[in-house]
Amino acid sequence: MYNIAVIPGDGTGPEQIREGLKVLEAVAEKVGFTFQTTVFPYGGTYYLQYNEVLPENAIEELKQFDAIYLGAIGHPDVKPGILEKGILLRLRFELDQYINLRPVKLYPGVDTPLKDKTPDDINFVVIRENTEGLYAGTGGFLKKGTPDEVAVQTSINTRKGVERCLRYAYEYCRHRNYKKKLTLCGKTNVLTYAFDLWERAFHEIGAEYPDIERDYAHVDAICMWMVKNPEWFDVIVTDNMFGDIITDLGAMIQGGMGIAAGGNINPEGVSMFEPIGGSAPKYTGQNVINPLAAICAGAMMLEHLGEHEAASRIENAVKEVCSKHLKSLAAGRMGYSTSEVGDLVVQYL
Ligand code: IPM
Ligand code: MN
Repeated sequence: MYNIAVIPGDGTGPEQIREGLKVLEAVAEKVGFTFQTTVFPYGGTYYLQYNEVLPENAIEELKQFDAIYLGAIGHPDVKPGILEKGILLRLRFELDQYINLRPVKLYPGVDTPLKDKTPDDINFVVIRENTEGLYAGTGGFLKKGTPDEVAVQTSINTRKGVERCLRYAYEYCRHRNYKKKLTLCGKTNVLTYAFDLWERAFHEIGAEYPDIERDYAHVDAICMWMVKNPEWFDVIVTDNMFGDIITDLGAMIQGGMGIAAGGNINPEGVSMFEPIGGSAPKYTGQNVINPLAAICAGAMMLEHLGEHEAASRIENAVKEVCSKHLKSLAAGRMGYSTSEVGDLVVQYL
């Protein structure tokens, strides 16, 4: 019996999560486990109503759960930054979810903008450090609003933070047991302090993993290779900012935000799983948004909880639905409604 905290969020988030929970309930029954959900209404609507982003006890409360299932946060009437920092980043930091796991996998039947690339070519995982780097929020202004204004934003890279991320990546690569290749994505030619630390730690720790091939690419070059030769990659590990950028590129080559899912993982604590697209407010309530990303995030959550059989059943069902049914992954162009896509996935479980 698992206790899951559910944050449906804003816009189309609740519609996506509704289908995700439908699939989770169906697979739980088939495989033989149970779960209980508690819904937390956080997001833009909550903020506009109560004038606070999260209530004081929210973090402590969320720590009691086995996992968090998040829809999407973002509201057109809330200034950019408030909800991102106040909810998403705060949860990542305070729950110490130091890994952001983003599989980039093209399923059969899904269109990729990359000409001549097939599901065999696009199958890798990005492991993004999730609590440090430029996201740490250190820096400030000097003489703000004057012609002499200075803005400083510092990338924080601690040996401990980098090391735990790299160790996770090596272990992940070993257990994934695919190409056994770990690529460090950095910028050692310019960011000669931050990525010097990353590179040294990468090789020092790598010596403990002789079964894993070590590879390195600069972040600009990796954007090129991800498009030209995605088949080169198995697992990519990188810092917070570069990981943010390259995973949007990754989402596009795997078919778009309609299918891209991610996990914010604290291997020793509470992890949070989410479709990586936004709240897509213009489609709210129309039953046209693609729920597959949320469904795939649900599968990642089950995998994390140790329900491997259930997770792979969902993944296989999603593959069937993509290859046999959907015309497109784009909202409104799937050939099915949001709830019909959820029903189809259930049907193939
Ligand atoms: C992501 C998002 C977030 C990030 C935003 C919404 C703060 O882009 O999960 O990749 O930058 O990490
Ligand atoms: Mn992002």
